[in-house]
Amino acid sequence: MRIHNHIIVCLIIVLLSCSSKNNQATQTNGLKDFYGDYFSIGVAVSPRALNTDEAALIVAEFNSVTAENAMKMGPIHPKENEYFWQHADSIVRFAERNKLKIRGHTLCWHNQTPPWMFIDADSNQVSKEVLLTRLKDHITTVVNRYKGKIYAWDVVNEVISDKQNEFYRDSPWYKICGPEFIAKAFEYAHAADPEALLFYNDYNEINPVKRKKIIQLVAELKAAGVPIHGVGLQAHWSMHEPTRAQLDSTLTEFAMLDLPLQITELDVSVYPKEHGRRERKPEDDLTEFTAEKAALQAEAYATYFEVFRKHKAVLTGVTFWNISDRHSWLDNFPVRNRKDYPLLFDEDLNRKNAYHKVVDF
Ligand code: GLA
Repeated sequence: MRIHNHIIVCLIIVLLSCSSKNNQATQTNGLKDFYGDYFSIGVAVSPRALNTDEAALIVAEFNSVTAENAMKMGPIHPKENEYFWQHADSIVRFAERNKLKIRGHTLCWHNQTPPWMFIDADSNQVSKEVLLTRLKDHITTVVNRYKGKIYAWDVVNEVISDKQNEFYRDSPWYKICGPEFIAKAFEYAHAADPEALLFYNDYNEINPVKRKKIIQLVAELKAAGVPIHGVGLQAHWSMHEPTRAQLDSTLTEFAMLDLPLQITELDVSVYPKEHGRRERKPEDDLTEFTAEKAALQAEAYATYFEVFRKHKAVLTGVTFWNISDRHSWLDNFPVRNRKDYPLLFDEDLNRKNAYHKVVDF
């Protein structure tokens, strides 16, 4: 009987040690582990995804999260005296529970702003003073709530114009305040949480004309003593661009600012890149993810990560915009209802060819 008990105890010990080894195996084999010596690997999430099978994937593969929408001004501050915290809070709780870093996104942007922001009770446009006070209240309240939990904020998003001959985007912020709101936003955020790293974030950074303007803006802010600590390159790219040389020179030029860089919103569309919404054309019905597209996309991803690794001294994070091909904002942009496949996991959450290329180095 005693020998029998002994055997059972031994069996339990062996089983326990096997299962802890298995756990270890799954925990040390994600993207975040392959890139442990390089940069953190993040993902943009919705609170809904955290209640699905995508939650386990996030924890296994990533070590940082960004709220896809929940911390933007419109969703989080729908009325002047009303904040909606539930969604943002649930993402923060999930990250804390699973020891993930959190990037805050975003404190000041021209899109997804609440309708009340730019007008008074009579629907007249507010003055610069009123708008800056509203911006300060907003930033102070949001940054304060997550103080010590969010390690980096995208403070200002997309203020540079895509038009060749225009420097600043002609947004309501700019129309009412001039460029001053940009520096102010950084100052308000820094006052609310002096420890948080503050980023300027923009897209189409691979375009040499726009890149030059972004670099000029950041250099000017830095020279003026504005608390800016990093540059976010969104990286909404396609499998056709950027080329290796274009990406390499992009990162080399941004690195000259002598600030940390992060890739903040990476996705690699299987269609040619377009930055504006447009009507559907007949060829938009060809949405099958063919073997040819999978191979081209895998090559593009391999190239992009090879260049990222080359620039690891200055690159401190790479964040994907959405989790898997099950859902991406690109399914509805630039064309409504055109399925895209821009991420490293397929609709069933399996690792795609592109994934294997990214971790094969
Ligand atoms: C921009 C914003 C993101 C997101 C994407 C599209 O890049 O910074 O928050 O809205 O557009 O989804």
